Amino acid sequence: MPVRLLLATSNPGKRREYRALAGTGGGIEIDLLPEFASLPAFDESAPTFAENAAGKALHYSRFTSELLLAEDSGLVVPALGGAPGPHSARYGGPDATDADRVRKLLGEMNGRTGSEREARFVAVVALARQERVLAIFSDFVEGVLAHEARGQNGFGYDPIFLFKPLGRTFAELASEEKNLYSHRARAFRKAADFLRSREAGLLL
Ligand code: IMP
Repeated sequence: MPVRLLLATSNPGKRREYRALAGTGGGIEIDLLPEFASLPAFDESAPTFAENAAGKALHYSRFTSELLLAEDSGLVVPALGGAPGPHSARYGGPDATDADRVRKLLGEMNGRTGSEREARFVAVVALARQERVLAIFSDFVEGVLAHEARGQNGFGYDPIFLFKPLGRTFAELASEEKNLYSHRARAFRKAADFLRSREAGLLL
């Protein structure tokens, strides 16, 4: 029997990626948490990805009896003290678009070269059921900030995240390629391995 997960996110980019990841993972099915848009929103203003992911998972697990997956993710730039970090979605203000956020970050990176352009995408995945967090998994992928946006795929900061092993930005990768290497894919694979394990059998 496949394990069924309900996903709590309004981000269409994340939804697409999780559907594809579950499709290739084997034994895991993902659906969107029903009525997600009309549920009270969770305030993701904690300073760590883990706190936001666990908080989100606990909050939305009140609205279903099924197993729930919530994720907090973002882009960490050590030279900027970790910014935009857990505030990646709101960087540049509440009305900013992905393109505005990319522009703002490129502005902050002006004049920075070499190791100062290093960045990593981080994802923390929390699994919860009925107001209990069952497990948390995290992972990251390293890259370098490009000098200008490149590519049309993906979402968010993908056009400026240069993935060195392939010499392309995440927005220049086909979705199947991004799903091999991304922070989200790596964290999700850990969650999927856990869900297929005997340990999870005792909890679920
Ligand atoms: P949140 O987890 O809903 O707070 O949003 C995470 C934010 O981090 C997104 O809105 C993007 O701005 C950024 N982000 C997270 N993962 C990715 C990714 O895979 N590509 C590009 N941007 C990402």
